[in-house]
Amino acid sequence: MAQKPVLLSGIKPTGELHIGNYFGAMRQQVELFQSGDYDCYIMVADYHALNFIQDAAQMRELTLDLAAGYMAAGLDPEKLTLFKQSDVPAHTELTWIFDTLTTMPYLMRAHAFKDAEAKDKEISVGTFNYPMLMAADILLYDAAIVPVGQDQKQHIEYARDTAEKFNRIYGETFALPKDHILESVAVVPGTDGRKMSKSYGNTIPLFADRATITERVIGIVTDSSGDLPENVYAIHNLIKTEGDLALLYDEHKGKYKALKEALIEDLDAFIAPMREKYLELKSNPSEIEKALAAGAEKARAKTEAKIEAVRRAIGVR
Ligand code: ADP
Ligand code: TRP
Repeated sequence: MAQKPVLLSGIKPTGELHIGNYFGAMRQQVELFQSGDYDCYIMVADYHALNFIQDAAQMRELTLDLAAGYMAAGLDPEKLTLFKQSDVPAHTELTWIFDTLTTMPYLMRAHAFKDAEAKDKEISVGTFNYPMLMAADILLYDAAIVPVGQDQKQHIEYARDTAEKFNRIYGETFALPKDHILESVAVVPGTDGRKMSKSYGNTIPLFADRATITERVIGIVTDSSGDLPENVYAIHNLIKTEGDLALLYDEHKGKYKALKEALIEDLDAFIAPMREKYLELKSNPSEIEKALAAGAEKARAKTEAKIEAVRRAIGVR
């Protein structure tokens, strides 16, 4: 039987998952996984998160939360490989090897680096080097497709460039990955209309309880001109089609309160099944740990031959 192409993606465990993560990245991962067309590797990017989380208890908790979140969203660890980046040392080994190929000016052109530097000059070397760890994550698995949100596009270009450079110097070793970004949800807006992001405090958590959904929806910024509250509509349109919404928004033209109430109902109905699953998983952390341990074994086995081929190619074996 021909091998299926590899799908690989990851999220860093740096906070509560929100519906921007779900519609921007996770839902595509779940759909592509369920299609059965790919051999899927889904990673908790804990070593990337270490640039942000420097508290051991918090790191442990956020890691389990993210793994449970993936499982609640529909990724079945029995049928794919769900693992922690730190459990596969080849990721950091390959990062070092890439570090010797890449140049500082090239990494200085990365958007994420420029943004981080604009906020704070004292950024860590880990933040600077973020794209090389991500390139290693992707290339070690010969990933063909990497489903992510728009903001990760450049990182995947960096991974391609790095693969090409390595192949040019040492001979054909890595496959070239492609991003997979759904244009319709490339940027999910938050409650204030800017990109939904935990760093802006404008999120709707993916497993929010009814009270939190209510509070966040009431807080959605609406400007008082016009009939259509744009920010309410944009979030509503993630879970309902334009056709479904046309009648509702027509009927309640200008009545923002009624429209927000409808959104609260619809969001709650959408979130409830995933929330139940999530809470159930969270009440049994040893199950999550077991799934991650099994995933670590599979990921290490998958990457063994590739990292050995790299060691031979560069001449340390
Ligand atoms: P945050 O901005 O909240 O810190 P992350 O950077 O951890 O989110 O993003 C994790 C994944 O979710 C990435 O693939 C990213 O592209 C996607 N993502 C995050 N926020 C959004 C959004 N508002 N719209 C679309 N995709 C998003
Ligand atoms: N940088 C990604 C993010 O912030 C997370 C990530 C790490 C990732 N390694 C990856 C995504 C490999 C896809 C493939 O969301």
